[in-house]
Amino acid sequence: MPEWTWEYEGYDPGRERLREALCTLGNGCFATRGAAPEAAPGPAHYPGTYAAGCYDRLTSTVAGRQVSNEDLVNLPDWLPLRFRVRTPDTPDPAWVGPDDGSAVGYRQVLDMREGILRRSLCFEDASGRRLAVEQHRLVHMGDPHLAALWTRFTAQGWEGVLQIESALDGTVTNSGVERYRALDGQHLTQVHTGSADAGIVWLRCRTRTSDLGVAMAARTVVADDPGHAAPRLRADDRRATQVIEVPLARGAPVAVEKTVALHTSRDPAISDPLGASIERVRAAPGFAGLLASHRTAWEHLWRRTGLDVPGEAGRILRLHQFHLLQTLSPHTADLDTGVPARGLHGEAYRGHVFWDELFVLPFLNLHFPEVSRALLDYRHRRLPQACRAAARAGRKGAMFPWQSAGDGREESQRLHLNPRSGRWVPDLSALQHHVGSAVAYNVWQYCQASGDTQYLHTRGAEMLVQIARFWADRAALDASTGRYRIRGVVGPDEYHDAYPGASEPGLDDNAYTNVMAAWVLCRALDLTRSLPAPRRDELFERIGVADGEPGHWEEVSRRLTVPFHSGVISQFEGYEELSELDWQAYRDRYGDIRRLDRILEAEGDSVNHYKASKQADALMLGHLFSPGELGGLFRRLGYTMDDVTWHRTVDYYLRRTSHGSTLSGLVHGWVLARARRADAWRYFLEALTSDVADIQGGTTAEGVHLGAMAGTLDLVQRGLTGMETRDEALWFDPVPLPELSEFGFSINFRGHWGVGVRVRGGRLRVDVPPSREPPIRVILADRAVSVAPGQARWLDLPSGPPNGH
Ligand code: BGC
Repeated sequence: MPEWTWEYEGYDPGRERLREALCTLGNGCFATRGAAPEAAPGPAHYPGTYAAGCYDRLTSTVAGRQVSNEDLVNLPDWLPLRFRVRTPDTPDPAWVGPDDGSAVGYRQVLDMREGILRRSLCFEDASGRRLAVEQHRLVHMGDPHLAALWTRFTAQGWEGVLQIESALDGTVTNSGVERYRALDGQHLTQVHTGSADAGIVWLRCRTRTSDLGVAMAARTVVADDPGHAAPRLRADDRRATQVIEVPLARGAPVAVEKTVALHTSRDPAISDPLGASIERVRAAPGFAGLLASHRTAWEHLWRRTGLDVPGEAGRILRLHQFHLLQTLSPHTADLDTGVPARGLHGEAYRGHVFWDELFVLPFLNLHFPEVSRALLDYRHRRLPQACRAAARAGRKGAMFPWQSAGDGREESQRLHLNPRSGRWVPDLSALQHHVGSAVAYNVWQYCQASGDTQYLHTRGAEMLVQIARFWADRAALDASTGRYRIRGVVGPDEYHDAYPGASEPGLDDNAYTNVMAAWVLCRALDLTRSLPAPRRDELFERIGVADGEPGHWEEVSRRLTVPFHSGVISQFEGYEELSELDWQAYRDRYGDIRRLDRILEAEGDSVNHYKASKQADALMLGHLFSPGELGGLFRRLGYTMDDVTWHRTVDYYLRRTSHGSTLSGLVHGWVLARARRADAWRYFLEALTSDVADIQGGTTAEGVHLGAMAGTLDLVQRGLTGMETRDEALWFDPVPLPELSEFGFSINFRGHWGVGVRVRGGRLRVDVPPSREPPIRVILADRAVSVAPGQARWLDLPSGPPNGH
């Protein structure tokens, strides 16, 4: 397949929802699944349009309990465009579609370079008459409120009257995820439809609780023909429909253009969503004009990353980048939105924001720093809410929610459905307080990569200090050991959420949580010490830091507990007492045991009894920190972390992990690559194919896994190169991955665009654009060089022993 396209041949109803997710088009403001416009929604078709940050809360009753959920709202569907052809012998034919058995040709091509979904269809009726349909779709990357659909019909050797029905459909609900069916999904209310001049129809509605106004306007016209589609509207209709009838002559194509504008009451610089939508669609050029500006916008985006990886891996990475940029684009910089774990591509996890931004921002930092900053602002605006959550829990500082959406309150569900057993079981994932450390880590990384000290000293400092205060207060001194402990939490491996048979939820001294807490405390100390005294006093006064607190941060940062057993880091205190699982027996019995938690619960057992993890937990430390930095952190805590211990720890957990999250393959791939292990590629490949091969058993159809997508890009960019941007220099510590030995990308280095990095044949090349003053310092393990503006330098990579880990 060509490197810039993603192609699907034939119609496969069983895989259609997966294709819809993978062929989603978006622009950072909104996205629309790649559903067939001519097909009615049903088991094979789930059209969905989602706008960044547009949530609505509803209460439902499940298992006899009232539960309230905030969902990313499925907005009215702008796609519907169905067609049929009347001939003298079939005056009232059925509408044509992929499910009626008439398709003799069905091909779909996602063009990533241009951001277009192209469909080539051919239908044949009972009399052997063929109708060819070419369709191009875009969600405009330049004007983030526009989308368009161009459709060309050709009657192959016959003639008739083509009837086209184009609609905006307000009957949609949130019903894309089977597991959530018991929950109320009717988010749209007060649906009104109407028509305006120039062949425009419109639909406006509100969300039920968040009371957001949503409006769409559509203009459907026959290209090259001034006539417009006639609106067909009923006052009570939740659909705004237009109908076109046009003669279809033998072999003479007829093209129809549908242009749609979408506004919500969250948009700036509008009077009202409906007025803005009508005005926007009225002013929009025809499809050719829209296409030209859309292409240009995409060309600019691709230029800002320049990622170039040969072969199939490169093609998948391009797809990952495509979906990342459709979810989080430069338009995101103007929005109040976080990183939705499943993109704007479906309804899984209800569009919520988790710790996944930890895998997303490091990539964006080096290409779209303005987007990273906006995503941090999403957290900063919710800092007061996180401080209130901490206060309610009797703590200082900020406790960010495990799942966040509209206002930043904890959105994690309290019960979740195990589809295997049909039981609603308690969900304790909100105890994953480590999400706060992910926010702090991103603040630090963004500021290091971009050099944005102004952010670091203001909003960044507020977040970092409040998260550090939470950890310092959450950690309790154990007089018997003289160490601080953090008890009653859940780590990234969500399988373990309590000790076997315990009445209290949570685990004690999760190693990842504690080491991250120590790191956050260190950074808060570094930062506040580096601030000029008046600014530090001002910050402390503003957020209420008492005099003795920094001294306490220092103490906790040096004396937090990290448990060990059998010469490896213990995932949490007492891990070694859990039973060993008979992995082979479970594999033999169930085949796919990724969701071991569900299997065991359905058997009446619990994964809490076993040494079995869903995903990387302690090993996350090797993903986030270089060996030197991790060694330093452990040393400061009074422990030793050498290569031998680390390698033993990697082996230990690798054998006991079911990879029930797409993040697992990614982190293990990264950690193993850094350890120069031959099995790294296997895990990298697993992360690469998470969505394209839908390896988590059908979950991609409900939305892509944005953390894994962005994480694989970062694995090439930082994982394989060991690249760091600090102290005004570019640092490299590359590791070889024989299956991916050649690649390149370009980064924004502290405000300077187009700094090129390329690895080939055991050498590294750095290109500095002519405009960049002064020269860039490039530092490798064995030397430092300076690359002048307009110069490129090839550097031999050190061939000595690995640098640890
Ligand atoms: C993973 C979490 C992740 C969430 C959202 C879960 O399956 O275990 O680590 O944050 O999905 O992607």
